[in-house]
Amino acid sequence: MKFFVDTADVDAIRELADLGMADGVTTNPSLILKSGRDILEVTREIAEMISGPVSAEVVALEADAMIAEGRKLAKIAPNIAVKVPLTWDGLKTCRVLSDEGTMVNVTLCFSANQALLAAKAGATFISPFIGRLDDMNLDGMDLIRDIREIYDNYNFKTEILAASIRTVNHVTQCALTGADVMTAPSNVIKALASHPLTDKGLEQFMKDWAKTGQKIL
Ligand code: E4P
Repeated sequence: MKFFVDTADVDAIRELADLGMADGVTTNPSLILKSGRDILEVTREIAEMISGPVSAEVVALEADAMIAEGRKLAKIAPNIAVKVPLTWDGLKTCRVLSDEGTMVNVTLCFSANQALLAAKAGATFISPFIGRLDDMNLDGMDLIRDIREIYDNYNFKTEILAASIRTVNHVTQCALTGADVMTAPSNVIKALASHPLTDKGLEQFMKDWAKTGQKIL
């Protein structure tokens, strides 16, 4: 499963990229706001830092304007994936940009039927939002499982990019379910390394090592 980092914070991306933990990046208007940076400038900086797909989202709501914005964003770098919302106009935009050879990430997906439409419109990625479904007392993972089954039934090439990931358990479930990609904030990715038994075991090893009086260096 590929790991994308869900942020426009270049320092957080760099730290994960240096470790080989950032196969791509996703941003959205809220994350651009949080970064306090200009969208074109920060997207260019991220796209130079990461060789994988970097999603940058259009903000127009009507297809012609979305297509124009998408073309402008796509010009930033060859690894830009234009992010469009899962609306009818977003699907039109997806078709046009995909046919032009631009990667498209269809975002704000909350149902299997929406995911089916995105695949038929030629999306490179479909972004089902797990956490926001969980927030409504629904099971976001059910959606990932349904989309996996549908895409496999018909051999759709669109990659399932599990989004709105809030917990380390979401990551495990996505990997078990066969999501192609998951995008998560850097704190969730870093939390994957934590385990209380690791901390406890290390503490004991350090105590015993100190008693040996030895040094390695
Ligand atoms: C995905 O591309 C979105 O940017 C993101 O995962 C949304 O997450 P949130 O629901 O935590 O805002």
